Amino acid sequence: MSETGVIKCKAAVAWEQGKPLTIEDVEVAPPKVHEVRIKIVASGVCHTDQEYLTGKGMKFRPFPLVLGHEAAGIVESVGPEVTTFSPGDKVIPLFLPQCGECEQCLSPKTNLCRKNWANAQAGVMADGTSRISYKGQQVYQFLGVSSLSQYTVVADTSLAKIRSDAPLDKVCLLGCSVSTGYGAAINAAKVEENSSCAVFGLGAVGLAAIMGCKAAKANRIIGVDVDPEKFNKAKLFGATDCLNPKEHTNKTIQEVLLDMTNGGVDYALVCVGSPVVMTSAFESTRDGLGTCVIVGWSETDAISVKVEKILMGRTLKGTYFGDWKSVDGVPKLVDDYMNKKLKLDEFITNNLPLEKVNVAFEDMKNGKGICTVINLWPE
Ligand SMILES: NC(=O)c1ccc[n+]([C@@H]2O[C@H](COP(=O)([O-])OP(=O)(O)OC[C@H]3O[C@@H](n4cnc5c(N)ncnc54)[C@H](O)[C@@H]3O)[C@@H](O)[C@H]2O)c1
Ligand SMILES: [Zn+2]
Ligand SMILES: [Zn+2]
Repeated sequence: MSETGVIKCKAAVAWEQGKPLTIEDVEVAPPKVHEVRIKIVASGVCHTDQEYLTGKGMKFRPFPLVLGHEAAGIVESVGPEVTTFSPGDKVIPLFLPQCGECEQCLSPKTNLCRKNWANAQAGVMADGTSRISYKGQQVYQFLGVSSLSQYTVVADTSLAKIRSDAPLDKVCLLGCSVSTGYGAAINAAKVEENSSCAVFGLGAVGLAAIMGCKAAKANRIIGVDVDPEKFNKAKLFGATDCLNPKEHTNKTIQEVLLDMTNGGVDYALVCVGSPVVMTSAFESTRDGLGTCVIVGWSETDAISVKVEKILMGRTLKGTYFGDWKSVDGVPKLVDDYMNKKLKLDEFITNNLPLEKVNVAFEDMKNGKGICTVINLWPE
């Protein structure tokens, strides 16, 4: 560390859209008021990082930036007025804050805290600047986190303190994909006992949604994916049936599901960022009772919904971070993992050092494996 408190460390920098990341020596400034600097120990790479890098379905955000928003680490230092964290605390940074004070935090009906929202989307902290720089040039922070860096700085409202015995290279997945999919089933859809569910897309988010449907004791859980390689894992997490839409050439996938379930599923969870799949999922739910939850990400696409299908009493909703109030919810999910109520190890299909981060992005693009965990401090 320098005299000014700046830390020099390695980070994977995205210099421009569509280009591989490069490992650079960056400088991470000390935390300002209500900010915390953390040593990132492990980080997942989520599809949203990939979609941002390729620009698919995402609004433009400035480059260069450090991606990564699904991680776990240790508090290195805290800025002025931080009262809830101390150096050495194990933490999970949160791309969705919970300030506890805004109108939406005070409502039990939503988790969408608006604190620093616009700035985090624009890649900067509350004061309009980023804490990461490269040779004096500002490097933006993705969703207010930037976990593909050995150190980063986050707002104290965008951080969850977790128990000291939690393995950081596993619980990092609770920073995004697993919490999102699991919460989509139990919080957003509110899946009920003995109900029927269809989960579209069996990546990390979809598998976690299946795990949520199973925890809620659904009696039929149908996994849908165009990649049959995902079916074994889906069954491990609780799918009772798996469907490949490509194998049903004379029927739409919604027709197949309506036939299979005698009129439609009670709950459809869409864990693919495709508007066409979202329409299919909505139309595969039951008249009068069906609920479709959109989890797959797009900031630019629109979906097509037939008025009649809504008139027939279906519910269409979306979820951000599985409807968890993030600061409260994440430590409880860590407890659930430690108490063996929640699987995490089974999601991890690869572990790589930071210098191989582009392999993780390539694998994600090619649908290879489920989650790669990046180790920021390989020996
Ligand atoms: N709402 C949120 O807060 C939130 C948080 C995290 C991720 N996401 C989004 O969730 C989505 C899933 O993330 P992931 O990491 O699991 O992605 P992933 O790419 O690992 O999984 C997507 C799966 O969908 C399958 N698929 C593709 N086309 C399909 C089709 N036509 N029908 C059925 N399956 C199809 C793919 O084969 C793949 O297995 C992404 O869009 C991601 O951006 C949303
Ligand atoms: Zn994510
Ligand atoms: Zn808030």
